[in-house]
Amino acid sequence: MKISQVRMKYLRFFAERGHTVLLSASLSPENDPTTLFTGSGMQPLLPYLLGEKHPQGVRLVNSQKCFRAEDIEEVGDNRHTTFFEMLGNWSLGDYFKQEQIPWFFEFLTKEIGLDPHNLYITIFAGDEKNKIPRDAEAVQLWKRLFKEQDIDAKDVELFTERQGGERGMQNGRIFYYNAKKNWWSRAGIPDNMPTGEPGGPDTEVFYDFGTEHDTAYGAHCHPNCDCGRFMEIGNSVFMEYLKNADGTFSKLPQRNVDFGGGLERIAAASENDPDIFKIDVLYTVIKHIEELSSISYIGDKKKLFRIVTDHLRGAVFMIADGIIPTNTDAGYFTRRLLRRAILHMDTIGMPKNILSSLVPHITKAYSEAYPNVENAKSIIVQEIKEEEERFRKTLERGLKEFEKIQSAELTGKQAFDLYQTYGFPIEVTEELAAKKNVHVNRKAFDKEMQKHQQTSRIGAEKKFKGGLADHSDMSVKYHTATHLLQQALRTILGDHVFQKGSNITPERLRFDFTHGKKMSDEEKRNVENLVNQKISEALPVSYQIMPIEEAKKRGAIGLFDDQYGDEVKIYQVGDTASGIFSLEFCGGPHVQNTKELGEKGVFKIQKEEAVSAGIRRIKAVIQ
Ligand code: ALA
Repeated sequence: MKISQVRMKYLRFFAERGHTVLLSASLSPENDPTTLFTGSGMQPLLPYLLGEKHPQGVRLVNSQKCFRAEDIEEVGDNRHTTFFEMLGNWSLGDYFKQEQIPWFFEFLTKEIGLDPHNLYITIFAGDEKNKIPRDAEAVQLWKRLFKEQDIDAKDVELFTERQGGERGMQNGRIFYYNAKKNWWSRAGIPDNMPTGEPGGPDTEVFYDFGTEHDTAYGAHCHPNCDCGRFMEIGNSVFMEYLKNADGTFSKLPQRNVDFGGGLERIAAASENDPDIFKIDVLYTVIKHIEELSSISYIGDKKKLFRIVTDHLRGAVFMIADGIIPTNTDAGYFTRRLLRRAILHMDTIGMPKNILSSLVPHITKAYSEAYPNVENAKSIIVQEIKEEEERFRKTLERGLKEFEKIQSAELTGKQAFDLYQTYGFPIEVTEELAAKKNVHVNRKAFDKEMQKHQQTSRIGAEKKFKGGLADHSDMSVKYHTATHLLQQALRTILGDHVFQKGSNITPERLRFDFTHGKKMSDEEKRNVENLVNQKISEALPVSYQIMPIEEAKKRGAIGLFDDQYGDEVKIYQVGDTASGIFSLEFCGGPHVQNTKELGEKGVFKIQKEEAVSAGIRRIKAVIQ
């Protein structure tokens, strides 16, 4: 099946079951300061998984563009890509395991037509330390579904550290794994989760391609083995836990389902071909590379074909979302993708300065689902063309410099110099070094890079447009304080003030806004006083969901994101009795009454400074 067919079938399947179809959010997160990229479908929905009301209801579905920078070095095998689409369906305190598991099974077997004999299941084995039980209910549901297909699905303690190693699959179909594999939160295992983070046990479905096990990956094969026989195609997270400040877990106010499925992987399973680069949108690029290089994909350059293809597609989608190649932040990943692709193009033997000519094949393949990417084609082509030209200016000299290296190890400083002087991303340096059997001190390089980013004040945080680091009590208070601050600035300085960014941690708020000059001491004092006055007035904080037009008519401010369709959520501070002080488009969360902010002290501006022309930044605390 083509990916467009799989995507359409999935959205329709869940729409028929009462889900509202959401558009994909941007690869660049709007409201999440903890990460540079949207890496899973749930990320843009975090406030709603924590209990905020979603304007589109309690059943949602979409296909979300994702980028996982951490997988950049995995690309080259049969199944890893940096960019992918994650099929997602969510229950926000509505249905749970009893519906989710049978629905996904039905989707895979009836809609996609996968043979249930090829499906294998993994289950959360439980976590004694954190007192979270194993998921016995999910096991029973899976057993019943397989039984209906005349398959006796045996559940098996596959292998645990306690049992001292692998035991093979023992004719099982359902396998227990610990939290490392079958617990999902943005931070990974329960112990790594920060306060206020939601998570839960998950059950994953693997497709068996029936290829022979490669013992290089362990004595026995099993669903989570990396030999390539099994591929994870979907993950149902039963998100019902919240990490507390004291390290324990409590139940969230609502039980959620957070499902994520690999669109490309399901398409590969539908073809019973374990190579996801054979799916339509990727294979079209592979075939053009074959033409341009006169080399066959099936051969010793397969890995390089995959890297060029993946990295180019990733860069196309990044640039379409405004993440152009730069030396910092998210844009540095676009640069890394492109430069690594360029290096490997040369190794494959493609003509030079040709990468951008492949772009139209990608935008065309996605034109139906992502018309904005097709519309941005000429910009994308231009950016990639310029990046190739830029890199080629230093590539030859850099390679010469590299050849001079005689030592067995490349120090962090040397690797950093290659980056700074010749524009070599670290992956490129590492790959060149590996060819010469030279070890690169990656840790030292990362340190150098960090130092550089700090001194030039270009760390990732500057990029974020908004968001809370966590949902602790204090962060939520600062979030409400930010709304008060924005309105106070508008009242004191004028209506030209608009939010340009915000970053909130439990320790302080930071707020960027449009204003042409330094604030005087008196202006700062007046803003502080107004915020503190509104705190002491004990104003109720509430929200309403309304059509965008209505919100605009009422004078609500904020970024009107189109991802929720026609309805938006508007937070209001104050009411008709007290007077409405602030009206702002926002996902939440907020305190219920401004007096909660006063419990901790008074609002104080610590710093007011320029960020760039016409943009000022305030750091403020409640103390
Ligand atoms: N959020 C889950 C994942 O990314 C579904 O796997």
